[in-house]
Amino acid sequence: MSKILITGGAGFIGSHVVRLFVNKYPSYQIFNLDKLTYAGNLENLKDIEEKPNYNFLKGDITDQKYINSIFKKFQFDAVLHLAAESHVDRSIASPMEFIHTNVIGTVNLLNAAKGFWGANTEGKLFYHISTDEVYGSLDQGGYFTETTSYDPQSPYSASKASSDHMVRAYHNTYKIPVVVSNCSNNYGPNQFPEKLIPLCIHNIKQRKPLPIYGKGENVRDWLYVIDHAKAIDIIFHKGKIGETYNIGGFNEWSNLDLVKLLCQIMDKKLGRQEGESAQLINFVKDRAGHDLRYAIDAQKIMKELGWEPSLQFEEGLEKTVDWYMNNESWLEHVTSGSYQQYYEEQYKA
Ligand code: NAD
Ligand code: TYD
Repeated sequence: MSKILITGGAGFIGSHVVRLFVNKYPSYQIFNLDKLTYAGNLENLKDIEEKPNYNFLKGDITDQKYINSIFKKFQFDAVLHLAAESHVDRSIASPMEFIHTNVIGTVNLLNAAKGFWGANTEGKLFYHISTDEVYGSLDQGGYFTETTSYDPQSPYSASKASSDHMVRAYHNTYKIPVVVSNCSNNYGPNQFPEKLIPLCIHNIKQRKPLPIYGKGENVRDWLYVIDHAKAIDIIFHKGKIGETYNIGGFNEWSNLDLVKLLCQIMDKKLGRQEGESAQLINFVKDRAGHDLRYAIDAQKIMKELGWEPSLQFEEGLEKTVDWYMNNESWLEHVTSGSYQQYYEEQYKA
C-alpha cells in the first residue's frame, strides 16, 4: 500500500488533488499536511474527510523537526508538494514569508526524503508542483517550453524558481527521484477570493468595483483546476524521473477581456441587463513589476503522457460561477476577518 504525503492539501489546487487521489485510489493512504494558513480551509475537503484512506496532519513545512517526525512515523513512499505561499501581491508586500515557506519549506521536505529514503529509492517519488511564472514574462509572441531559461520577476516567482532549483539539485546530487511540473494560472471552485476570477465573481454579485490593474492588457493562460489535478495524477504515475512537464490550456486571455466575459456570464445568471455588470470595471494602479504575458506550450505532456484539458474556457468559467453562487457560505467564511483587512489595505485609493 502506497503512503503518499500531499502538502498544501487544504488549499485551492491541493484540495482537488487530495479529492482525486482519495477517491480514485482507495488502496493508497493519503496524508494531507497543511498549516491551515489564511489560504488553507478544511471545508474544501468535507466530502472526503471520513474516507478510510484519508488522514489530515496539521503542521508546518518550515519546521524540519516536525517534518522528520512524520516521515519517521508514517514512512511515506511519495511526496506531492503543493504547500506554498501563492499570491503575487502578498509576495510584494511581505517577501520573507515566501522565502520561508516556498524555499526553506521545500528544502526541509527534500532533507527528510533524503534522510529517510537513503539509497533505497526504489518506488519512491518527490513530485514538486510549480508555476509557469518561474520563466518570467513574454512579449506578444512565443511560449514557455520546458527548456525556457528561468527569469522570475516577482518575489513569489523567484521563491518558486529557487525551490525548483533545489529540487533538481537534490536529484542531481543525492539521487532523490524527482519530477517537476510548471502550470499556468488555474481557476475553478475553492479558489481564495484574493485571486482575479473569484474576486471579480464576488464583487459582481455585490455590485462592488472590479479592480483591473493598469490597462487590463496583461495576458494569462487559464486552466480549469480539475484539469490540472488530472495532469498531476498522470505525471505522478507516468512521468519520467528527473523530467519537467509544462501544463497549460492553450487558453490566453487579457485580464480585461476575461473580466468582460465574466460580467456577461453573470449578467445572465443574475437576471441583469446586458452590460450592467461591466459598468463595475474600475482601472486601478498597476501591480509593481507586473508580468505582461504568460503562455505555456503543453505539447510535451500531451504527446508523451496523453493528457489534454477537458473543458473549454467559457464552460469552465460558467461552472466556476455556478459553484460560487451555490456556495455562499464558503465565501462568507473565507471573506470575514483578516481577509477584509487585507482587501482594504490592497485596494485603498
Ligand atoms: P493556495 O494558496 O490556495 O494553497 C496553499 C496551501 O498551502 C494552503 O492550504 C496553505 O495552508 C498551505 N501552506 C502554506 N504555507 C504552509 C506551510 N508553511 N506549511 C504547510 N502548509 C502550508 O495555493 P494554490 O493556488 O492551491 O497553489 C498550490 C501550488 O500550486 C503552489 O505550490 C503554487 O505555487 C502552485 N501553482 C499554483 C497555480 C495557481 O494558479 N493557483 C498555478 C501553478 C502552480
Ligand atoms: P492573479 O489571480 O493574482 O494571478 P497571477 O498574478 O499569479 O497571474 O492575477 C491574474 C491577473 O489579474 C494578473 O495579471 C493580475 C491581474 N489582477 C487584476 O488586474 N486585479 C486584481 O484585483 C487581481 C487580484 C489581479
